[in-house]
Amino acid sequence: MDKESISGGQLLKKANQLKRAGKLDEAIALYHQIIEINPNFAWAYNNLGDAFAQQGRLDEAISYYSKSLNINPNSAWLFYRLGEALAQQGDLETAIGYLKKAIEIRPSFEKFHNSLTQVLARQSSLLEKLYSQHEGKVSDKWSSYLPTYDLVLKSRINTNVRLLEIGVQNGGSLEIWSEYFPTAKLIVGCDINPECAELNYEDPRIRVIIGDANNDKVRKNIIGLCQRFDVIIDDGSHKSSDIVKSFATYFPFLEDRGVYIVEDMHTSYWKNYQGGLFYPFSSITFFKHLVDIINYEHWGIEKKASDILNGFFDKYGLKIDPIELQKIHSITFHNSLCVINKCKREYNNLGKRCVTGRIDKISQTQRKANNTYNTPENQKGNEWSTRNLPPGEELLRNLEV
Ligand SMILES: C[S@@+](CC[C@H](N)C(=O)[O-])C[C@H]1O[C@@H](n2cnc3c(N)ncnc32)[C@H](O)[C@@H]1O
Repeated sequence: MDKESISGGQLLKKANQLKRAGKLDEAIALYHQIIEINPNFAWAYNNLGDAFAQQGRLDEAISYYSKSLNINPNSAWLFYRLGEALAQQGDLETAIGYLKKAIEIRPSFEKFHNSLTQVLARQSSLLEKLYSQHEGKVSDKWSSYLPTYDLVLKSRINTNVRLLEIGVQNGGSLEIWSEYFPTAKLIVGCDINPECAELNYEDPRIRVIIGDANNDKVRKNIIGLCQRFDVIIDDGSHKSSDIVKSFATYFPFLEDRGVYIVEDMHTSYWKNYQGGLFYPFSSITFFKHLVDIINYEHWGIEKKASDILNGFFDKYGLKIDPIELQKIHSITFHNSLCVINKCKREYNNLGKRCVTGRIDKISQTQRKANNTYNTPENQKGNEWSTRNLPPGEELLRNLEV
């Protein structure tokens, strides 16, 4: 080893320490020095790329990874890093090429396979593509929402969707929805910010209503445009009271077979948004209660399904028609997203038992049960079923006394 590479190695160690400590500017300066001393030091380029990637400076990261790859053309890690950085930039096709190359060099490395799987999933997401190509008004969504939205909405792409989005801001999402649903009938955005009235759209299907979505007059204006929606997205204030009120207000205007989506539910864990992990009146607690409502027929006690929401009704001054609650077909929780599917109440029951097959060597009672309905067990004596309040609310009352 010559003198230059020894001092380069020591400096690299120091630069790596700085990088690990989050002192990225200092680390970057030191990596540059190392490269000046030894322009063929592949790891210095690689780690400089990492430091830039950590700062979100992806163009620079990619440039230094590429330089490192020129010196060290068989490094699976460099192909992987390039693939990840390019995927972050939205160049999925090139990213896939690099990730495949990384796998070719190290086929048994799971991390590379996972990364490729994720990028391939993103590539098949039309919404992701629209987002990466969009040049019009700005839209602001988290990356994990895009493939989820695709999964939830793709069956409606060529239908005459009527969509309502609470929260318009710069207006980009309304533009993107109009592209995603080329045959959409109407795309309504609602925003409390009066400046949103200045947003102009060439597409006459896009309409913007100004005002608090939970205000009666605003609701009337929205419903004046369209009485039934197929897709409703709540990307408004993200405060628990607003989310719950909006659900109570607009779920009844969702078509049977429609879908209601709430974004940014991470805020329901934060006090500033009227939340907290165990807060009994957070928006996520509300939607968790709806899971019980879907399973109402199994409660085995004499209680109305809506009773479980009484605390929310009182707290936020709202009510929901019990018939609407019976139309909740499913609730899916993703990271920060909640997706509620609606359908006619007759499709929301457990249904009949379907027992098929002829050979029953282990248990012979099944075949006789074919076509029978479930009878819930009586839970009158179950103290966990008969409590008046959900445990969180009971605790809150005790704390308040
Ligand atoms: C996260 S931004 C919306 C981003 C937009 N949907 C997108 O994807 O680019 C939230 C918007 O909700 C609006 N907002 C907040 N509270 C609201 C309410 N009660 N009713 C309607 N809009 C509200 C804010 O003014 C803000 O513009």
